[in-house]
Amino acid sequence: MTTAVRSPEVAVRSQAFIAGQWVAADGGGTFAVTNPATDEVLAHVPNCGAPETRRAIAAAHSALPAWRSRPAQERAAILRTWAQLMLRDRERLARILTLEQGKPITEARVEIAYAASFLDWYADEARRVYGETIPSSAADKRLLVLPRPIGVVAAITPWNFPSAMITRKTAAALAAGCTQVVKPAEDTPLSALALAELSVEAGVPAGVFNVVTGAPEAIAGELFANPLVRKVSFTGSTEIGRLLVKASATNLTRLSLELGGHAPFLVFADSDLDRAVDGAIASKFRNAGQTCVCANRIYVEESIREAFVAKLAAKTAALVVGDGLDEATQIGPLINDDAVTKVMGHVDDARAKGGRVVTGGARATVAGRAARFVAPTIIDAARDEMRCASEETFGPVAPIFSFASEAEVIERANATPYGLAAYCFTRDGARIMRMAESLEYGIVGINDAIPATAQAPFGGVKHSGYGKEGGHHGIEEYLVRTYVSWRL
Ligand code: SIN
Repeated sequence: MTTAVRSPEVAVRSQAFIAGQWVAADGGGTFAVTNPATDEVLAHVPNCGAPETRRAIAAAHSALPAWRSRPAQERAAILRTWAQLMLRDRERLARILTLEQGKPITEARVEIAYAASFLDWYADEARRVYGETIPSSAADKRLLVLPRPIGVVAAITPWNFPSAMITRKTAAALAAGCTQVVKPAEDTPLSALALAELSVEAGVPAGVFNVVTGAPEAIAGELFANPLVRKVSFTGSTEIGRLLVKASATNLTRLSLELGGHAPFLVFADSDLDRAVDGAIASKFRNAGQTCVCANRIYVEESIREAFVAKLAAKTAALVVGDGLDEATQIGPLINDDAVTKVMGHVDDARAKGGRVVTGGARATVAGRAARFVAPTIIDAARDEMRCASEETFGPVAPIFSFASEAEVIERANATPYGLAAYCFTRDGARIMRMAESLEYGIVGINDAIPATAQAPFGGVKHSGYGKEGGHHGIEEYLVRTYVSWRL
């Protein structure tokens, strides 16, 4: 069964992918995938639960011995081919992504290249999984440390990056020799299924990569109840992360958690103002503010605040809001009505507490429809007691706070339970180092609003979770180290 999503060139399978087979849910149940810009139903995909998940885990378990025994070069070649196929089909994949997620097509193309870059990077990294020998204190003993794939792993992935958050996990897992079950977000399963189609063409053997679509509770319940699953990697909210930590206690399932963020974005008077403004736009409005690493609080040194706000507001007001499929669009819809309610709640709360809406501050109308569009918004004179100062907004709203000293802004930037990403714009070298060492975040962008890349470790501290994805650190999450003491 395939579904033609608006036009045949973006057709994608709408079945789950288990053991190399395209399958329906056991009871035949499905759920609808809709376009957040138009409410158009794009497809119905299987509403799988525990039994289908169990079969996917069993398939991954059966495929494991052959996959982990294959020479790293062979696994690498398959991952590289998969990356190349993604780039070959970049336009089709980007359109699927925009249709189900809403982000501007220009950003979707960037995401597909970003997603492919993880497969490409880990194709190389597969060949660099080194062991150790340790000098022994006995002449007749040799001490070895062997890296081994942890086994069957699972990924629970979010809707905001429907392709890249899968490949970031899958590439490292498969490079390490693990086999995987992926549960994509209910809002955006089509990108995952499109990846599964390409995995077949790339030569990923049946059972090595499985996609189970459906209800999160039933699927996650099985993933944690099943002792064959040795590791789960999750990207999503801190609230759900906490539940997964509890669920992982049963089988002591290893976890990596990439959870919520509340990024501070610091602009010092000695920064290049235009660069800082462009950085704030890039960080805040990428994916309409729906990224975990988005600037959520913008702190500007008082002496340049007025100039910064004026430039930022002018550029923000010029951003084009629209259907992501329009090439001109820079801000697409929010993912659902709850997201709109939350974002507008932050705007109303800021207004009520004395914030000055400089631009935006309302829902936007596109093609005569209010749908889920929110105008990109700048709120000046933001204060610490506003909701946006302590809750993740996940939308296109930029509150501007002012600060007087470096010590003060460090304290305020760190005054959150979250610790994913922070940004600092300054030209002072000594300050750069002080910031890198003082900001309690897993990622610090210095004069750089988009720090994430396949070769660097991505991940947070505190309530933003633990574990790294990307870089050589990312593959460690899928390995165990066996110590071998060998008496000759
Ligand atoms: C995220 O928002 O979780 C991912 C952002 C990125 O990889 O740049």
